[in-house]
Amino acid sequence: MAKATKSFSCTACGASFNKWSGRCDGCGAWNTIVEDTPLSTGPASKSLGNKRGSGILLTDLSTEEAPPPRTHSGMDELDRVLGGGLVPASAILVGGDPGIGKSTLLLQAAARFSQAGLKTLYVSGEEASAQVRMRARRLGLGDAPVQLAAATNLRDILTTLETEQPQLVIIDSIQTMWADNVESAPGSVSQVRAAAHELTSFAKRKGVSVILVGHVTKDGQIAGPRVVEHMVDTVLYFEGERGHQFRILRAVKNRFGPADEIGVFEMTGSGLAEVTNPSALFLSERGEPSPGSVVFSGIEGTRPVLVEFQALVAPSPHAQARRSVVGWDGGRLAMILAVLEARCGIPFAGLDVYLNVAGGMKVQEPAADLAVAAALLSAREDAALPAECVVFGEISLSGALRPVGQTENRLKEAQKLGFSTAIAPTGGKAVGGNSLSLRQFGDLTEFVGDIFGA
Ligand code: TYD
Ligand code: MG
Repeated sequence: MAKATKSFSCTACGASFNKWSGRCDGCGAWNTIVEDTPLSTGPASKSLGNKRGSGILLTDLSTEEAPPPRTHSGMDELDRVLGGGLVPASAILVGGDPGIGKSTLLLQAAARFSQAGLKTLYVSGEEASAQVRMRARRLGLGDAPVQLAAATNLRDILTTLETEQPQLVIIDSIQTMWADNVESAPGSVSQVRAAAHELTSFAKRKGVSVILVGHVTKDGQIAGPRVVEHMVDTVLYFEGERGHQFRILRAVKNRFGPADEIGVFEMTGSGLAEVTNPSALFLSERGEPSPGSVVFSGIEGTRPVLVEFQALVAPSPHAQARRSVVGWDGGRLAMILAVLEARCGIPFAGLDVYLNVAGGMKVQEPAADLAVAAALLSAREDAALPAECVVFGEISLSGALRPVGQTENRLKEAQKLGFSTAIAPTGGKAVGGNSLSLRQFGDLTEFVGDIFGA
């Protein structure tokens, strides 16, 4: 028998090494390399199919083996983020800050899926079954046919799964799970990885869907090894600001649907309510048109969403002016400031710049460039944009405005919400059938001159 050798891996990127070092050669992170504990050689190490070590020709796969259809929970916001319902035998990771509402969401989802006919088991490692039942009753789900279990020992859970044979199992949370063949504390990297591995491979073998809840660390990553993200089919993040009641479920990886899809919920006294018109919600706190405020018509996944950008520009009392941004990329803000200065001759030196996406929404699209530039200029010039106006478009380093995808959907959503004007790059798909007045510009200088008279 070969001598057991130690192995090490990086908790940030998952690279493997045969000796420890302070810095990972794979991703350059410091103090992320830990010793691996060998996984069990028990049932979980069996291969997935029954034909071990042989391949199957793609053309030999008969259509009878096509996967059974997806199950819909009936919560449209959740079903859409999953890519159109729950895929059988899929593994899903739901990450989020403590207290954001993960347990609430998944208990509601468990109830809905069980009512839709899936045999569902909800395993809580954090609360006793009685507490979960109490919560369910408070959420008005007391009569849903969900099975509850309070357990943290992985062996016990796998045994329960063998005997109960559910079709969907929810593990809340993966950090509380504990494999007795791994010699480290629950929540440690090796425990989380071992538990995730055992559960996902069990799920694939038995055709069970598994949803793992994962806590997120201060810097926003799912606590435990990144490799858990590689093990599952779908990674969802449940996000939200503490001061706001709405929550966003975002698909960051999905083997069965589009990534970047979002579902919007509102935390109420009786659990999470679906928000079917997020644009109306994000714009609900908007008052009269004011300098620095610009509405951006964005696309999140497959759906248009309007959000408000707010900017504040003020003389800086500091030697080095501040650049502060919430809900948008800081690097991208620096780029837009540089383009405004270099191409339009509008300096921001000596001015503090604050940029915020209202309502705690995070925007990632470059299509928001023009809205950001408009907000910055509007704040700097102390001039509000025309009322009822949406803005979108990408800015290139040359100062040219580039058309962005889904122009039509962006305009439709703006019109639906009562906007009358849209500012967009020239080009883009010709748009018909709406009554918005469209003002198009080919480059940033032209836009600045026309809108701000600068
Ligand atoms: P929870 O689902 O326990 O969060 P997580 O599992 O992500 O840690 O949610 C906890 C918060 O949600 C708590 O602060 C109270 C709030 N909440 C409501 O506002 N209404 C409700 O109906 C429920 C169940 C929770
Ligand atoms: Mg919880």
